Amino acid sequence: MSGVFDRLGRHLLFALDPETAHGLSIAALKSGVPLCAGGQASERLRTRIAGIDFLNPLGMAAGYDKNAEVPDGLLRLGFGFAEVGTVTPLPQPGNPRPRIFRLEGERAVINRLGFNNEGHERALARLARRRPRGVIGVNIGANKDSVDRIADYELGVRRFAGIASYLTVNVSSPNTPGLRNLQGREMLAELLSRVMTARDAGAGEAARTPIFLKIAPDLDEAELDDITAELVGNAVDGLIVSNTTIGRHGVRNDPRAKETGGLSGRPLFRRSTAMLAKMRRRLGADMPIIGVGGVDSAETAIEKIRAGADLVQLYTGLIYGGPSLPGRIVRGLDRFAEAEGLKSLREMRDSHLARWADEPL
Ligand SMILES: Cc1cc2nc3c(=O)[nH]c(=O)nc-3n(C[C@H](O)[C@H](O)[C@H](O)COP(=O)(O)O)c2cc1C
Repeated sequence: MSGVFDRLGRHLLFALDPETAHGLSIAALKSGVPLCAGGQASERLRTRIAGIDFLNPLGMAAGYDKNAEVPDGLLRLGFGFAEVGTVTPLPQPGNPRPRIFRLEGERAVINRLGFNNEGHERALARLARRRPRGVIGVNIGANKDSVDRIADYELGVRRFAGIASYLTVNVSSPNTPGLRNLQGREMLAELLSRVMTARDAGAGEAARTPIFLKIAPDLDEAELDDITAELVGNAVDGLIVSNTTIGRHGVRNDPRAKETGGLSGRPLFRRSTAMLAKMRRRLGADMPIIGVGGVDSAETAIEKIRAGADLVQLYTGLIYGGPSLPGRIVRGLDRFAEAEGLKSLREMRDSHLARWADEPL
């Protein structure tokens, strides 16, 4: 599939600084220029998770469309769902630039954006204007200067529950100081109980919007135990594993590796997949889990599912693979399922669970 990206070549976008390239890609998606046709997914790829019907299991991860500008453009690329955000109640500029770095040889990125976004109101207005179709998740966070960060999440739930297919409570960005402390047992208990209460108090549909928790890959086994207990105790609807890592495992010797921020892409694959399997083992077969981190091909997507994922998301893969990547992965998944004689991808879920769950962290 030759699209604008393929014709211009990745090297042209890569000649620009990463944020300029990102802005251009958003503008291209907004313009409706046919970058790449996603194609129709087959029955085999349909997945029903947390009461939501997904046409295929591949989603756009949070952080690409922070302000809900192009959810439909993303779906047209072939994604089965798109997660917009992270949105915070008030607009905020994020950290000073430069704050995104490509590690090209590693097929990785380091970012320290710090939740730069236009705030709830703008995102909400954009979502309200579109014709509702497709699965759109909204990823919610807290303002850096907030005096009550948990209240920011409650507000996110109250504002977006009526309009989002699902909500993601993001406590795993490494770029807002102290944010990840919300993953600790006591804070997490309070956060989840307040967030679920806010959701349950919503009117009509809003009260049924599933809530997922997105966690970091930099947690130890005891912390995973605590998170499991709170997820179950608060009847959270699902889990996303994982956000970027503050570690630099798997990065060889790129000088940019010393930049502060969260690492994503290929070097994150191993750790995030091991974490996913460890959480699947703890949570059992019925908890919806979305696997994210280093997916850049049908093979890596399949491995996430074998490690325990119901659905898969990617971001960094799109930077290196371009807009034809989602379509290529979805077609690859379909061909694989057909060749293996699977009626659905669920049939291969967990087939490598033990191997991944036993990986040392
Ligand atoms: C530039 C950039 C910005 C991101 N912003 C967010 C964000 O706002 N909220 C969030 O939950 N995750 C954010 N992420 C994390 C991704 O959603 C994803 O969890 C992570 O990058 C691992 O997936 P990948 O290896 O496919 O990129 C961001 C990632 C990148 C590279």
